[in-house]
Amino acid sequence: MNARSTVLALITLLALHVQSGLAWGNLGHQTIGYFLAPNALSFVQTTLGSQYNFSLGPAATWADMVKSEPAFTWSKNLHFVDAEDDPPSSCSVEEIRDCADQICVLAAIANYTTRVVDPTLDAEQIQEALKFIDHFVGDIGQPLHVEAVAAGGNDIDATCSGSKTNLHAVHTGMLTKNVDAVHGGTSEQYAADLVAEIQTGAFSSLTADWLSCTSTTEPVNNKREDATPSIERDVRALLATRDTAMVTPLECPLGWARESNAFDCSTVFNFEPEEDPELCEGTYFTNAIPVIDLQLAKQGFRLAAWLNVIFDGAPMLS
Ligand SMILES: *[C@@H]1O[C@H](CO)[C@@H](O)[C@H](O)[C@H]1NC(C)=O
Ligand SMILES: *[C@@H]1O[C@H](CO)[C@@H](O)[C@H](O)[C@H]1NC(C)=O
Repeated sequence: MNARSTVLALITLLALHVQSGLAWGNLGHQTIGYFLAPNALSFVQTTLGSQYNFSLGPAATWADMVKSEPAFTWSKNLHFVDAEDDPPSSCSVEEIRDCADQICVLAAIANYTTRVVDPTLDAEQIQEALKFIDHFVGDIGQPLHVEAVAAGGNDIDATCSGSKTNLHAVHTGMLTKNVDAVHGGTSEQYAADLVAEIQTGAFSSLTADWLSCTSTTEPVNNKREDATPSIERDVRALLATRDTAMVTPLECPLGWARESNAFDCSTVFNFEPEEDPELCEGTYFTNAIPVIDLQLAKQGFRLAAWLNVIFDGAPMLS
């Protein structure tokens, strides 16, 4: 079917509002989530309502806002998976090693995917499930959310444009600086620019691969090896069995985590803070920006495909 033109739905974004300490910050999350098919779009609009301007952009920041509230402290550890690897020399994500207790973003995406269509849950629980999926599919694309070292970089001192901060927060600083410099300073323009890259630009040749999950996923103990992994297969199998007993019954999120984590070795931890703590300028900055753009575009596209399979039965994006 004529996918992109017919299913494209531009998710409205809130004004730029970056808070420190949120990795890519609100901006990053609001840039995620674009290409919804009709039933997914309708579900999103109805479920989020006017409180979130009927769109995934404003709703994506909810999970970050509530995680410090007493009622939601339990959700804090669902935002990441602590990969016990050794960047920059060795990067890896392993389900059993890194998420044996199922308290991590891999298990959370599976959990909320089953909950978002669970007819026994009430409207508030369904909305929460959607907001968690919205947020966690973004978080898993962030290299520092897939890394145990120094609490995902929070404990590593660094400088961004002269301000002392930490490595985790530097990524928000880099994103903000780049959006100000080349995307008109607004999340709307940045999002529109990434969408253009996906539709007709440098990313357009990559999207089939983004949806396939084959490039990075290795067969894992309990996975079927006879079929090709894909977002479609992942979501369909999960919703058919609702089996969340294993660490994660999903192959794609594990592949996404491994992709993000690989950037910890190639890019994120590739610096000498003692020699030059300034990361929002020079080579570090120049190398990081294409990775941030790629990861945001990719996860936004994957989020739409994920919801499209749930509500429209197929990714509707090829
Ligand atoms: C809400 O969404 C509409 C379009 O869907 C947009 O024009 C408007 O600016 C948005 N409002 C806010 C507060 O983001
Ligand atoms: C699944 O979601 C429910 C509701 O938010 C939560 O109480 C539970 O801890 C979650 N389970 C996992 C494994 O994430």
